[in-house]
Amino acid sequence: MSERKPLRSARWFGRPDKYGFYARSWMRNQGIPSEMFDGRPVIGICNTWSELTPCNAHLRQLAEHVKRGILVAGGLPLEFPVMSLGETLVRPTAMLYRNQVSIDVEETLRANPIDGVVLLAGCDKTTPALLMGAASVDLPTILVSGGPMLNGRVRGKPVGSGTDVIRFAEAVQIGTMSQEEFYEAEASMSRSPGSCMTMGTASTMASLAEAMGIALPYNATWPAVDSRRAVLAEKSGHHIVDLVRNDVPMSKIVTREALENAIVVNGGIGGSTNAVVHLIALAGRLGLELTLDDWDRLGRIVPCLLDLMPSGQFLMEEFCYAGGLPALMKELKPLLHGGCITVEGATIADRLEEAECFDRTVIRTLEEPFKPLGGIAVLRGNLAPSGAVIKPSAASPELMKHRGRAVVFENMPDFKKRVDDPDLDVDADSILVLKHGGPIGYPGMPEIGNMPLPKKLRAAGVLDMVRISDARMSGTAFGTVVLHVAPEAAIGGPLALVRNGDFIELDVEARSLHLDVSEAELAQRRAEWTPPPPHYDRGYGRMFLDNVQQADRGVDFGFLVGGSGHPVPAESA
Ligand code: FES
Ligand code: MG
Repeated sequence: MSERKPLRSARWFGRPDKYGFYARSWMRNQGIPSEMFDGRPVIGICNTWSELTPCNAHLRQLAEHVKRGILVAGGLPLEFPVMSLGETLVRPTAMLYRNQVSIDVEETLRANPIDGVVLLAGCDKTTPALLMGAASVDLPTILVSGGPMLNGRVRGKPVGSGTDVIRFAEAVQIGTMSQEEFYEAEASMSRSPGSCMTMGTASTMASLAEAMGIALPYNATWPAVDSRRAVLAEKSGHHIVDLVRNDVPMSKIVTREALENAIVVNGGIGGSTNAVVHLIALAGRLGLELTLDDWDRLGRIVPCLLDLMPSGQFLMEEFCYAGGLPALMKELKPLLHGGCITVEGATIADRLEEAECFDRTVIRTLEEPFKPLGGIAVLRGNLAPSGAVIKPSAASPELMKHRGRAVVFENMPDFKKRVDDPDLDVDADSILVLKHGGPIGYPGMPEIGNMPLPKKLRAAGVLDMVRISDARMSGTAFGTVVLHVAPEAAIGGPLALVRNGDFIELDVEARSLHLDVSEAELAQRRAEWTPPPPHYDRGYGRMFLDNVQQADRGVDFGFLVGGSGHPVPAESA
């Protein structure tokens, strides 16, 4: 290695002076022998393992496989924790802390003797948070996902993470499912390590990482417990050492074209609307301009090929057995930039060469897709001047063009108090409008946009209604749900001005969302509007409120956009 240019870590470990002593001597207390400081690549393993993040609880073991790969390839692995985010426990929403985790990753990487990094993530926000943080440092980077849980199964029927929970909770409420059956389903759903096995945000982001080439093929689909995932982790350890030796930073992999591939693949898999904010934020960290219009333009022609919950019937195990993401991407090949380079050095086109589909009921073809519209549609109009999104593949076709009377809820507590009131003035044609679910309003932009329908309408057999909010929706959810309305109500966006009885027109085909109220009347209402009191006056929450951008800018902090690279900071002593 002597002919190579010294690595970043040599500025710590490769010195004969007292600074080298500090750097090496204390590391030796872990039993690391002296030859490990001979200038070999030092690889960080950034781990979101946590018992508070059940979807990532197995990543401690997976890290051992990454380590072995790094050691065999001649690198020095050093595993470190960052703040982890579990969707199911963190309140008010894990999204409030995505940017904080990205800061944790960014600063830990830059401050330490690290030449390259393997990111271990799984649960929804952990993947974008780690990618965003790493992007701002731009070292050689590979993502290894924890993988999906095995399929849930109860009383002979499949149970999909999240998706079926919504159905079950509604069934208990209207009396078609007993409380005992509900508890039984709970135990039958999460029966192995891993993340949600529907096409929720975790599977979506793992798929998009694979599509961008920043993760190895089959990263999204090997089940968490499949030994081939351990092999993928070990191989990632080999490849990261090569990437460091060949000096290939993350920005060479996650390019504008790679991001475009991710948007196309998101359409093909019927991926989560959350990918919209995460990819825009990630692009921003790489100094790339990705907009809602890119999402609409690139997604418009992409059909959904995958029959997977929440849009369809199957689960991630079936996707894996049908050939995984490479088989699906092979179908999308005409729409992809095949020349993009991946972390293993191959191009995307090379990857698809050997891919094969083993089950056409799960992965359909471009000619005979599962649903004609896979991409996320971006809506604009006087109700969402900076845009809103809807996932047509999870919506009801008959509601995609709809005019209805607004039934307005000021915030989530107001919704919970009144939605099931038998006297609520609502019918199947009404449009449910929820305010204050945005980044500043809730705070943190939680997944409450797919608000449950009024009990009396559900009991009458109504399965879907148009719903509009400035909130997000879980990737595991479904319905004709307009999300991410920007600007949000809490900063005086037009959503704040909607009143009960106003007519709203949704036309997905025309990409429009219109509030049928005169400009003069809206101006009057705007003059009467007062902002809600802020949720925080100190701490991280205060930093969030002061700096967060709206959904169309990826909900990233303004001051985090861009990167600072990986200069070696000054000595501490
Ligand atoms: Fe963690 Fe769904 S709750 S991936
Ligand atoms: Mg989720």
